[in-house]
Amino acid sequence: MTGHKADFPGLAGWHYLDTAATAQKPQAVIDAMARALGEDYATVHRGVYARSANMTLAFEAARRRVARFIGAADANEIVFVRGATEAINLVAYSWGDSLTAGDRILISQLEHHSNIVPWQLLRDRRGIEIDICPLTEDGQIDLDAAEKLLTPAHKLVAFAHVSNVLGSILDAKRAATLAHKVGAKLLLDGCQAVPHMPVNVADLDCDFYVFSGHKLYGPTGIGALWARAEILAAMPPWQGGGAMIDRVTFEKTTFAPAPARFEAGTPAISEAITLAAAIDYIEQIGLADIHAREMALVKQAREALCQINSIRLFGPEASAGIISFAMEGVHPHDVGTILDEEGVAIRAGHHCAQPLMDHLGVPATARASFGLYNDETDVAALVRGLERVKRIFG
Ligand SMILES: Cc1ncc(COP(=O)(O)O)c(C=O)c1O
Repeated sequence: MTGHKADFPGLAGWHYLDTAATAQKPQAVIDAMARALGEDYATVHRGVYARSANMTLAFEAARRRVARFIGAADANEIVFVRGATEAINLVAYSWGDSLTAGDRILISQLEHHSNIVPWQLLRDRRGIEIDICPLTEDGQIDLDAAEKLLTPAHKLVAFAHVSNVLGSILDAKRAATLAHKVGAKLLLDGCQAVPHMPVNVADLDCDFYVFSGHKLYGPTGIGALWARAEILAAMPPWQGGGAMIDRVTFEKTTFAPAPARFEAGTPAISEAITLAAAIDYIEQIGLADIHAREMALVKQAREALCQINSIRLFGPEASAGIISFAMEGVHPHDVGTILDEEGVAIRAGHHCAQPLMDHLGVPATARASFGLYNDETDVAALVRGLERVKRIFG
């Protein structure tokens, strides 16, 4: 496989290494969005005219497309949400409200804030406790430690499938076995996994899976929560309004079954349909190929960065398309600014993972993250740019 840059109008003349923040969009996705907002556009689920009925079919077909993409047994197990952040908040508010004082949740040291803060809000509402699973020396969630920490009081384990800072890949099947052994559920934050590797929720044996469309070459404002049908069936609504009801009277309202029960209001119609187009695009290339190619680019980049003696690399060698690093004596923001002058876009900051920064002992890192469009020329530009940073800072 060669790079697919030509499919991405946003990439002309640019070395984009910030896909972990958000992915660039291929022309096929831009065209699908234009159609869904243009000649095809209408509301869903309530129109009596043909255009609306067609849009409803496309919207529900998108749900089936997402289900197939992650190996869900049934399309009704897919709840459309704004993104991973909203998905985790939904679980924390709806499923989480069944927890009581004394119940515990296990998260890890490397989580994104969106897999920390909703649980803290739940802790404050329900009086539960949160435990933190430490990391191995090379920055993976330490499942031996998790095994020792887990008790029957744990109701949920919520881990990143892939770290957005270190690229570490969780052994999700083992995490599921450990969680289920004590009767806990496993939630996987798949934001950084689905763009980089094949994911099958049945195979992983998790209970909740969440991801954002915009990191998957699709639009912003759309993402998915998957949960087993029986779990969703037992969860109460978390937002009230149109579309999520069965019958409303002033005395009492009854609710629609899942997933509609969790989708109050007019949904992100065009975005959901365009997410399906993004999935079509990616699957045509093949996630196994994308994974292999990105792993090779990471290896090449890590080897090159190791040659620059002032650079410290974080995270494991086998990273799913993400490298975090620090340059001695240079703030990551300065690294990012100078690289920008060279036409190379990276991210510098805490990456919404401040507890991980505390663990690494740095306020911020520089992060280069790869997508299916990157190739060796991007690695070369990154290395050239970093050599210039080194020359400037002596
Ligand atoms: C691992 C991980 N989890 C959750 C999120 C939150 O995603 P969003 O902001 O699209 O809701 C991100 C985004 O950076 C992420 O990388």
